Amino acid sequence: MKIVIIGGTGLIGTKTAARLRNKGHEVLAVSPKTGVNTVTGEGLAEALAGAEVVVDLANAPSWEDRAVLEFFETSGRNLLAAEGKAGVKHHIALSIVGTERLPENGYFRAKLAQEKLIKASSIPYTIVHSTQFFEFLKGIADEATVGTVARLSPASFQPIASDDVADAVADVALGKPLNGTIEIAGPERGRMHEIVARYLKATNDPRTVEADVHARYFGSELDDRSLVPGEGARIGKIGFEDWVRHFQQG
Ligand SMILES: NC(=O)c1ccc[n+]([C@@H]2O[C@H](COP(=O)([O-])OP(=O)(O)OC[C@H]3O[C@@H](n4cnc5c(N)ncnc54)[C@H](OP(=O)(O)O)[C@@H]3O)[C@@H](O)[C@H]2O)c1
Repeated sequence: MKIVIIGGTGLIGTKTAARLRNKGHEVLAVSPKTGVNTVTGEGLAEALAGAEVVVDLANAPSWEDRAVLEFFETSGRNLLAAEGKAGVKHHIALSIVGTERLPENGYFRAKLAQEKLIKASSIPYTIVHSTQFFEFLKGIADEATVGTVARLSPASFQPIASDDVADAVADVALGKPLNGTIEIAGPERGRMHEIVARYLKATNDPRTVEADVHARYFGSELDDRSLVPGEGARIGKIGFEDWVRHFQQG
């Protein structure tokens, strides 16, 4: 089966492509670097010719509110239109647990817009809602840091290793379209400020962490439901300590 991975050079794209290739599928992992751009449309029709499944793992180069919205809307429209013409039978997209709950977060708004386009299209689909990747903990700390202190919400938090995300996305790509959304998360639930503090300590980062219930996460205050999945989520195998020791470098 021919499977096209959009954003196939990225963190999750690379890992998902490897898993699907190992299972014997014809995988085309594409991105602007390989001449396929979902914003301009360059190379899209050629890449999708004969594809049964498309996995959209692209990410926007700028996370500024308007730029990121424009990216996911334009990319989504172009991709779904090209898939319609190519007769693609299953569209998979990776989004975030809680996109519908944080309207003040511009990145979440853009991902929600991407999801709406998918649901409104005629292509059978599955949306995978993931919690934050362990690989993103540094980005979370950086966004919350002033001077040497990261002020972070103590809200419930359940990050996941990118390897577990890629396992889940690869399984979904080989399954039937659900025309719905599944949730995935890491094996341990904790408090955001504590998990980020553990990450900083494990990476010898000298910053300190302060808990603040009003600290904003990319624009939004959080509560204990904001970023964690509901019942029935697929839970990854790799815990935080395991990831720090064995997986962090790749
Ligand atoms: N970070 C998190 O914690 C988290 C949580 C849940 C869901 N997600 C979602 O997971 C997805 C994958 O994230 P990631 O961290 O693997 O991304 P990433 O490593 O930043 O990779 C982004 C990919 O998108 C490609 N890309 C950029 N512009 C493109 C365009 N115009 N057309 C086609 N491809 C384009 C890049 O290609 P080049 O290499 O050619 O630039 C690259 O392959 C994203 O959609 C994100 O929203 C992330």
